[in-house]
Amino acid sequence: NQGSLWGGRFSSGPADVMAALSKSTHFDWKLAPYDISGSKAHARVLHRAGLLSQQELAAMLSALGRLADDVDSGSFQPAETDEDVHGALERGLLERAGEDLGGKLRAGRSRNDQIATMVRMFLRDASAHIIEGVLDVVEALITQAEQHPAAPMPGRTHLQHAQPVLLAHHLLAHAWPLLRDVERLQDLTRRLAHSPYGSGALAGSSLGLDPAHVAAELGFTGPVENSIDGTASRDLVAEFTWVTAMIGVDLSRISEEVILWATKEFGFVTLDDAYSTGSSIMPQKKNPDIAELARGKAGRLIGNLTGLLATLKALPLAYNRDLQEDKEPAFDAVDTLGLLLPAVAGMIATLTFHPDRLAELAPQGFSLATDVAEWLVRQGVPFRVAHEAAGACVRACEQHHPPKELHELTDEELTSIHPALTPEVREVLSVPGSLASRDAVGGTAPARVSEQLAAAKQRVADF
Ligand code: ARG
Repeated sequence: NQGSLWGGRFSSGPADVMAALSKSTHFDWKLAPYDISGSKAHARVLHRAGLLSQQELAAMLSALGRLADDVDSGSFQPAETDEDVHGALERGLLERAGEDLGGKLRAGRSRNDQIATMVRMFLRDASAHIIEGVLDVVEALITQAEQHPAAPMPGRTHLQHAQPVLLAHHLLAHAWPLLRDVERLQDLTRRLAHSPYGSGALAGSSLGLDPAHVAAELGFTGPVENSIDGTASRDLVAEFTWVTAMIGVDLSRISEEVILWATKEFGFVTLDDAYSTGSSIMPQKKNPDIAELARGKAGRLIGNLTGLLATLKALPLAYNRDLQEDKEPAFDAVDTLGLLLPAVAGMIATLTFHPDRLAELAPQGFSLATDVAEWLVRQGVPFRVAHEAAGACVRACEQHHPPKELHELTDEELTSIHPALTPEVREVLSVPGSLASRDAVGGTAPARVSEQLAAAKQRVADF
């Protein structure tokens, strides 16, 4: 039975329910191009080991080349009877190379080392693609930051007004975690660079096949050190789904803010028409669906990670069929981010910020109280006392009806709270004064933020 890679010791074929459960072509077919590359490399080491003649190698490579073209064009597809990508491709090879020659290729390899290798190749390419998409989001954040070099906004902790910050500073605070996600994928790529091919089912190959040669041909830096590890471990797949989940979480945090910012109450941003949706009943609606889907899909990406970890937990060595369950979570993560990253990048790039609204709110909620306390410290007042005094200023403001803002306290009110609170304190009771004072490295002073912006751009350029 072509398309089945086993059967010699069986008196019957698989039951329909067995075959249906076992089947993986509906998701592993996307690995077919990698599997064919692996087969070409494997044919070459069979030849080097004296197991294929020069002519046989040429015929095998030609048949594999034709098979690759037919997979690529879609004219060769998995059949109903094919168990998995490997079985389908062997059927395709036998059809093109003939049974005698095609039947020689499988010597010295197992689906266990094949699949482990194919998944690493897939994740290597997927990581490169995701890196591009993440960098596009980072660039959208950087471009928005560049367009608002001096705009203040209310910085928050606990979602309460805390201290004024530059909008550019806040936007870049979303860029740095994404840049670390890119580093994580690059770091993972170094670990993915070891090829399990040649590990066989678990114990390695006995036919004198050189795993280093296959590894080099498939773009790996070398073979794995341990054939059992090579076939049985899926920590790298789990690591990939962790990084993709983290990217999802990072996007969800940006998205949650966009959702808040686009409300009537915040009024910080207007979403572009092309990156928002309407309502089927409420004609006025303009909804932040991209941001909401990003928030929702973070849950899905986390689910891919936790599902895979649950599959791996307590699995004995070496290969177990449970490991087939590694692919759909990883593939789903790739597909999900493939949709999400460009949409989020476009949403961010097309946001219209409202600097007047941001500036109006920046000093509200007594967000300059820390500046009063720190100004007092510079006058020699101990911080404990200064903190109390600034707190008393807030209380004094709140006792007015309607409440005053800090800068609206009179000179007399200020000095009656603490004698050191002379009118000079007003120099820090302004948003620009507050921003400019936070000028240590990493702070929100405009000079520091423009350095930070340059550093972020350089990071992007360095990748
Ligand atoms: N479809 C399998 C997987 O994804 C390939 C390896 C199957 N090996 C086996 N001995 N049944 O893991």
